[in-house]
Amino acid sequence: MKPRIVLTRPMTDAVMERARNEFDAVLPPPGGLDLESTLNALEEHKAEGLFFTSGTKLDAATIARIPAHVKIAGTCSVGYDHIDVEAAKARGLIITNTPDVLNNATADMAFLLILGACRRAAEYDQIMRKGWGRFFGMHEMLGLDVSGKTLGIVGMGRIGRAVARRARGFDMKVVYHNRTRLDADLEEGAEYYADLKEMLPRCDVLTLHAPGGVGTAGLMNRETFSLLPKAAVFVNTARGSLVDEEALLEALDSGQLFAAGLDVFAKEPTVDPRIAAHPKVFLAPHMGSATVETRTAMGFRVLDNIAAVAAGKPPIDPV
Ligand code: DGY
Repeated sequence: MKPRIVLTRPMTDAVMERARNEFDAVLPPPGGLDLESTLNALEEHKAEGLFFTSGTKLDAATIARIPAHVKIAGTCSVGYDHIDVEAAKARGLIITNTPDVLNNATADMAFLLILGACRRAAEYDQIMRKGWGRFFGMHEMLGLDVSGKTLGIVGMGRIGRAVARRARGFDMKVVYHNRTRLDADLEEGAEYYADLKEMLPRCDVLTLHAPGGVGTAGLMNRETFSLLPKAAVFVNTARGSLVDEEALLEALDSGQLFAAGLDVFAKEPTVDPRIAAHPKVFLAPHMGSATVETRTAMGFRVLDNIAAVAAGKPPIDPV
């Protein structure tokens, strides 16, 4: 008997093929399944597993409506701030995520944003799309070097460390803030700050890699932006909830920030029109893990977790 599952969103061809071949799967329509259709499909299909993404919020009320035969809900994301994990535990619903497989892709996106913000990529792109038309003077439209600068990393987990490795390749000095100090072999020369506020004045470029949720909401606010050196660059591929967007806009307008690179936003999937229109912001629509290879690896990891639980084994990536 193949495990019965429901997928809420279309995945890469390889993941869809595996879902079709190895599972008794309800596959989603091109636009995905909304919450009500997901709950109905789980019920009608007598599903054991739910394959979902951060677009589906599993709050306590929703978890209470998930049929009892569903044993596992695997989110195709490393973050799980869209899930009430305590409510899931109380209901006996196993939650899994997809750690590790997206470290490099997300670190690449952070570096794309660092370089894009430092080198005014959004403005250059606009100029070219409007037809260019004149040579710029040697003093015009200048960006900032990353080489020789100090990169501050907030959250030195697996993604943060992958960003640090890239930064060393660009001749940057790395400082970091984390709940706990890493062992020297994981630090690889990065300088630890137990206190974020002490680290911020050191950061020419600051990048966030901390989880969303309680404890990190509004981490970057008027006070913390003001502690950065004047004309710093700010990058966020973590979660929009970490940033007070009003304070971010003020910091951009005042010149406290030279530029920002943003992949995540407070009210996804919408973006504040003032941020979208801001010339100093280089933007992406929450695409940190969006490569063929990585999304396939993430999807496989969700399927592996569901297959394990359906076979009576422990999940690989329990949350
Ligand atoms: C993740 O994996 O957490 C990504 O941000 C997608 O939600």
